[in-house]
Amino acid sequence: MGSIEEKVVSDITLPSHIPESAQTPSQAPVPRLFSLERRTIAITGAGRGVGINLAAAVLEAGGHAACIDVLPEPSPVEWASLQKLAKSSNLTISYHKCDITSEESISETLDTIANEALEAKAPLHGTIACAGIQQKAPAVDYPMDGFRKIMEVNVTGTFLTIKHSARIFMKQQTPGSIVMIASMSGQIANRGLTCTAYNSSKAAVHQMCRSVAQEWGQHGIRVNTISPGYIRTAMTDELLAAEPALEKTWMAGALLGRLGAPEDFKAPTVFLLADGSSWMTGADLRVDGGHCASA
Ligand SMILES: NC(=O)c1ccc[n+]([C@@H]2O[C@H](COP(=O)([O-])OP(=O)(O)OC[C@H]3O[C@@H](n4cnc5c(N)ncnc54)[C@H](O)[C@@H]3O)[C@@H](O)[C@H]2O)c1
Repeated sequence: MGSIEEKVVSDITLPSHIPESAQTPSQAPVPRLFSLERRTIAITGAGRGVGINLAAAVLEAGGHAACIDVLPEPSPVEWASLQKLAKSSNLTISYHKCDITSEESISETLDTIANEALEAKAPLHGTIACAGIQQKAPAVDYPMDGFRKIMEVNVTGTFLTIKHSARIFMKQQTPGSIVMIASMSGQIANRGLTCTAYNSSKAAVHQMCRSVAQEWGQHGIRVNTISPGYIRTAMTDELLAAEPALEKTWMAGALLGRLGAPEDFKAPTVFLLADGSSWMTGADLRVDGGHCASA
């Protein structure tokens, strides 16, 4: 029974009189809709945490990964396993130390990545803007240098990353997909957390997504955000170390009985980068273990 159904689906060719059916890349079979073969993806914040896991996701989907981070070196254990994976899959993985708040530095880094990608016949096709920072302080006492720093990295740095990625896609005259890692905190105020600057910065990322999506769609460039809930990484370890009682509050909203892991973002990110999401732009994909679904 199962095998008959599988055969019908794999051999299917639907006659279509819908003009848009001839235009969408989503005509391809489903595995191809999740493939990043012959494409290079740049990932900021890929020295550790969620970003380095997303680099693994890119490789696993058949793409080449170019990691960007302000850290001098990526986390050694994860990096060794990425190199192994790249080698066994005949793909490339590269690491570029770069501060995304410097326009000169991020534009040069992305140009280098794009030129190498063209030479390798796997053009830069996507960018994941994942670098971000967090700081907890009551709003009435918020240190202004901390507030400005969060805006500088999470808003200006993210904008510079996507601005220069879009310029490359336009110059190459290729389509491109940009995924920005925002946060559920861009839409809700986290109970018990005093993070006004971070929350405001992530709301700015959501609006940045909609703004550039309406400018760049005509060039075949798609822009979407992912809004994670609480993920266990160095960022949240720091928050929990300062205030361990927070974990109980977070777990109270965890409809699936656990916090997120960096790996929970692999499939959502690959989906947004690849052709399966070819009619999605200016949208937000919330991946939060159900946190925002209940009060
Ligand atoms: N951890 C969570 O619960 C959570 C929840 C929602 C959203 N997010 C978002 O996910 C993304 C990744 O977070 P994470 O938890 O992996 O944090 P992380 O601190 O482990 O990783 C962030 C990375 O960004 C890099 N970075 C910081 N400033 C930079 C700069 N100026 N230039 C280049 N790189 C820079 C850091 O060096 C680090 O490697 C962030 O945008 C964060 O806001 C995280």
